[in-house]
Amino acid sequence: MKKFLALVLALAMIFALVGCAGGGGGVKTYKVGVSIYKFDDNFMTVYRNELDAYFKTLNTDKVKYDVTIQDANNDMNTQSAQVDAFIAQKVDVMIINLVQSTAADSITQKAKAANIPVVYINRQPSDDDMAKWDRITYVGADARQSGTFQGEIIRDLPNHGDANGDGVVSYVMIMGDPENVDAQFRTEYSIKALTDAGIKVEELFKQRGDWDQAKGQELAATALAQFGTKIDVIFCNNDAMALGAAQAITAAGRTVGKDIYLVGVDALDEAVALVKSGGMTGTVLNDAVGQSHAAVDAAIKFINGQPVDKIIMIDYQKVTV
Ligand code: GAL
Repeated sequence: MKKFLALVLALAMIFALVGCAGGGGGVKTYKVGVSIYKFDDNFMTVYRNELDAYFKTLNTDKVKYDVTIQDANNDMNTQSAQVDAFIAQKVDVMIINLVQSTAADSITQKAKAANIPVVYINRQPSDDDMAKWDRITYVGADARQSGTFQGEIIRDLPNHGDANGDGVVSYVMIMGDPENVDAQFRTEYSIKALTDAGIKVEELFKQRGDWDQAKGQELAATALAQFGTKIDVIFCNNDAMALGAAQAITAAGRTVGKDIYLVGVDALDEAVALVKSGGMTGTVLNDAVGQSHAAVDAAIKFINGQPVDKIIMIDYQKVTV
C-alpha cells in the first residue's frame, strides 16, 4: 500500500513538472485569424502587408503570433465561411475587414457565442452594431476628415479650383463602393469644404468606380469626353481611381495644375510621386501603418484580457508636396 502511494505521488510530481515545463518555459502561441475584404485592393494590400510585418516584430522567445490572413474576394459568403473556420480552429482573436458593413451584426453574434474578440478594421460598422458586445472594437479613420481635406486642398488653390475661370467649380466625382461610409463621407465632405467657403460648385458627373484604378480611368475618360474643358476638378474617393483618372487626363491632352485639378485619398507611393511631379494636385494620407499597428495592439490587448476602446481613430493628413 505504501509503495503504491509513493508511486502515485511520484507520478503526480512528474505530471506536475511536465505541466510546468509546458506552460512556463515553452512558447505560448496565439492564433490570429484575419480576413481582408479583397486582396486586389491597392490600399488594403499596403495595410495587410504592414499588419503581417508588425505582428512578426512582436514575436519573442515566449510569445508567438500565428497569423492567418485570408482573402474574402469581395464576397460576404466567403468571408462568413472564413469566420466560421476561424471559430472552429479556436483562434484567440479575429481581425476583420468587412466585405459589407451590415454583416457586422451576424459576425459579432457568432464571435460572442464562441467568446472570440473581434477587431473590425477599415470598413466601419454602425454604432448600433458596435454596441452589441464589449469585446469588439473598430480601428479606422474618420472619413469625413479625409473628404474635408480633399476639399480644402482645392479651396486653398489661388483660384479656389476654378481652372477655367467661369466662376463655378464644376466637378466630376468618382466614388468608391457606395455602401462604404468612406465613399459616402468623402463624396459629401469634399464638396462641403468648398461650399462652406462660399465657393460655387456644380456637379457634372458622379459614378461608382469601386476603388479600382481601371474603373477610375474609364469613368474619367467618359467624363472628359462628355464635358471637356467645363471640368475644373476631378475628385476621386481614393488614389487607385485617381491614378486611373490621371492617365485619362493625360490621354485627353489636359494638364493637371494648369487646366484641371485632381485629388485622391490614401497617399499610395505612386500617388505621392505624382503629387511631387505635378500629375496630381494632392492626396490625403490614409495611415496604413498607424491603423494596422493600432489594430494589432488592440488584438493583443483583447488576448491579454485588457480593456479596449470601442473605437480607435487614426488621423488623416493632407499631402500636397
Ligand atoms: C478606403 C481606402 C480605399 C479602399 C477602401 C476599402 O479607406 O481609401 O482605397 O482601400 O478603404 O474599403
